Amino acid sequence: MKSSLKNKNIVMGVTGGIACYKVLNLIKKLRDLEANVQVIMTYSAEKLADKKDFEKASGNEVKDNLFEPNIDYKDYIKKNKPIKHISLADIADLFLICPATANIIGKIAGGIADDLLTTSVMATNATVLICPAMNVKMWKNPITQDNINKLKKLRYEFVEPEYGDLACGYKGVGRLANPDKIVDRIKAIVERRNNLAGKKILVTAGATSEEIDPVRVITNKSSGKMGVYIAEEAFLRGAGVTLIRGANAVEPQYHFKDIKINNIKELLNAVKNNIKNNDIMIHAAAVSDFMANNRAKRKLKSFETLNLELSPTTKIFEKIKKIKKNIFLIGFKAEYKVSQKSLIDRAYALLKDADADFIVANDVGRRGRGFDTETNEVFVVDKNKKVAHLQLADKRVIANKLLDII
Ligand SMILES: Cc1cc2nc3c(=O)[nH]c(=O)nc-3n(C[C@H](O)[C@H](O)[C@H](O)COP(=O)(O)O)c2cc1C
Repeated sequence: MKSSLKNKNIVMGVTGGIACYKVLNLIKKLRDLEANVQVIMTYSAEKLADKKDFEKASGNEVKDNLFEPNIDYKDYIKKNKPIKHISLADIADLFLICPATANIIGKIAGGIADDLLTTSVMATNATVLICPAMNVKMWKNPITQDNINKLKKLRYEFVEPEYGDLACGYKGVGRLANPDKIVDRIKAIVERRNNLAGKKILVTAGATSEEIDPVRVITNKSSGKMGVYIAEEAFLRGAGVTLIRGANAVEPQYHFKDIKINNIKELLNAVKNNIKNNDIMIHAAAVSDFMANNRAKRKLKSFETLNLELSPTTKIFEKIKKIKKNIFLIGFKAEYKVSQKSLIDRAYALLKDADADFIVANDVGRRGRGFDTETNEVFVVDKNKKVAHLQLADKRVIANKLLDII
């Protein structure tokens, strides 16, 4: 299969962090996928790593100077000759900064352009993907976090660092993300096709929980990742996004309208209050199928034998088209260890019942699919019962493929 990175220009800023050398492996992976990697190193990066290693790994000359030593700029300007000082910004299909120091993040957020890397980032139209790596205290510093939040609002993208032992001797969040995760994100960005600017999307995600008594609930294992990633990817494509998510779902990384709900009643109210201005609704929330018939008003004693009587809950998904007739509606259907045929048949039956446009079906009984996993495999069923099979992949990759189909 043709690599989506083939002949893509990835301009890669390498900044002065301990993880400098780790990214040589990432460059190799990108070149194996036939990308053209053009490295820019900062002054500090060259103090910590050898420029020659990056030239060898990338197969390209490393750029590190805003002012080329052999160009007489005064003469160029006097004679009105064109000067190419931001050419890397122009050729980039994707602008990667990896590893990214606290300093470079602060400089970009502050609008500083005082070397080749910051000037090129300031001048690029390409998506900028930042992979921070630093000491845990630098990461947690509210100034770093404010800078990151500011950049996220401006649609700069991040692969967040991971928890673990840090080279500085500390333990905590700050390790550069795994290179495969970074490659997956680069692929997702490059493969992101259609633009959703001007569209308004309502996404639901995560589990609802129904109270048995004031402190206990019936819920499910949904992490909310699938829905939250869809919301994030739609936002990064320019859509106006409203996310309604279960209180325990993962936090979205980017800034859009984000409403937390606990139970079905709150979910239904949030949908009713927000659906009006939306063109598309993607209902990925895992809604409880049961609720207690008689919710205890006081905390039940733990030594009592408890006979719970449960009733099926309202099917929110089947109400959506009644609330807003012309919404483009996509739902999810989770089944447990069924044949592919029944999975698709049941998805199609749901599509009919809800008058939906697509149903995304998955078998959560199979490993690496569905609830509380990083990956998913889904079958997208349309109104003609035509099926698109999206093979097992990272949930963010699946999110992008779904948005392409929609
Ligand atoms: C040995 C050493 C390791 C460093 N590692 C990191 C690091 O992992 N992350 C970070 O944000 N800064 C790190 N720094 C600090 C940066 O190098 C410093 O903030 C520098 O100004 C960054 O410049 P740049 O962002 O232009 O590359 C390190 C400094 C030294 C001396």
